[in-house]
Amino acid sequence: MLCQRRTRVVLALCLLLVLWQCFRAPTDGLGPFPWAPSLLNTPAARCTASANGSAWFNARYNTAMGPLLTGTAHELSADVVQWWLTLQGPPRGIQLEAIIQRLFTVLPPLTSGMWDSSRCRTCAVVGNSGWLRGSGHGLRIDAHDWVLRMNRAKIAGFERDVGVRTTHHFMYPESAVNLGPGVHLVLVPFKPLDLQWVASAFSTGELTHTYVRVNRFIKADRNKVLILSPAFLKYIHDNWTQHHGRYPSTGFTALLFALHACQQVSVFGFGADREGNWHHYWEKNRWSGAFRRTRVHDADVEFSLIERLAAEGRILFHK
Ligand code: C5P
Repeated sequence: MLCQRRTRVVLALCLLLVLWQCFRAPTDGLGPFPWAPSLLNTPAARCTASANGSAWFNARYNTAMGPLLTGTAHELSADVVQWWLTLQGPPRGIQLEAIIQRLFTVLPPLTSGMWDSSRCRTCAVVGNSGWLRGSGHGLRIDAHDWVLRMNRAKIAGFERDVGVRTTHHFMYPESAVNLGPGVHLVLVPFKPLDLQWVASAFSTGELTHTYVRVNRFIKADRNKVLILSPAFLKYIHDNWTQHHGRYPSTGFTALLFALHACQQVSVFGFGADREGNWHHYWEKNRWSGAFRRTRVHDADVEFSLIERLAAEGRILFHK
């Protein structure tokens, strides 16, 4: 009798343990799916993952490289400024220090709550490739601590394939979209106007055009805005894409951001279609190969870097 009761108690405890493991929430609590099953490794396993790089990886990865602009005086070296100012057209009488200063009067200063690269976290980088359509990756994507999306990424209608959570949304003025509460807007600045646009879009709305018409205002949490440093873009161009293409794509930049901020990086939605177009999962192809031919970004080099990172166990690449 006593033995039976003890067995029942043990069985009940086991059941409770199994249920707790299956139904615990993602750690940042941002997601509407607190019941999403954990599809990832234990925290301890995640945090040991980045030790011991290959010679190939160590030659490229710079641990000391911070991805963000902080607004401190003279944080950009002359060679970074010189390279960055020519990315999208010739520089004309730019007062970069003054532009950055104004930006950080509109935005709050960077705090450790907004940026802390020391935490053990898992990150999903979700590119916009058409290969995501029909992938069924949604739950797997949502199970990560951080979910990084970019540009005009759509969720409504594609939840099964791309998930529903976003913690960071990478954009530039011409690709900007409004964001939900609590989402980090991550600006990828390709020119001084991009920095001016953020300051304007969160204040007066005076900036209406870059090389196209842009949104005057943006709906997003100004306390969560992160600005990528031009030095980080140059680091990717020098160390990773090694001067192939004019500058790295938004997606590849987001992936490198994740490599510097997360202990485990899963990559979804990268890869051109069979004709080499950067197609999107939410629309019929509009590019007709143009993006690849312009060589603004080198799609082949970026893709082979992603494959190499996956082969070396640095990222999990879900094709
Ligand atoms: O097209 P868009 O720039 O918005 O896509 C975001 C990123 O996703 C790109 O910068 C690129 O890195 C990646 N992408 C890809 N293959 C595609 C479409 C996009 O690798 N077919």
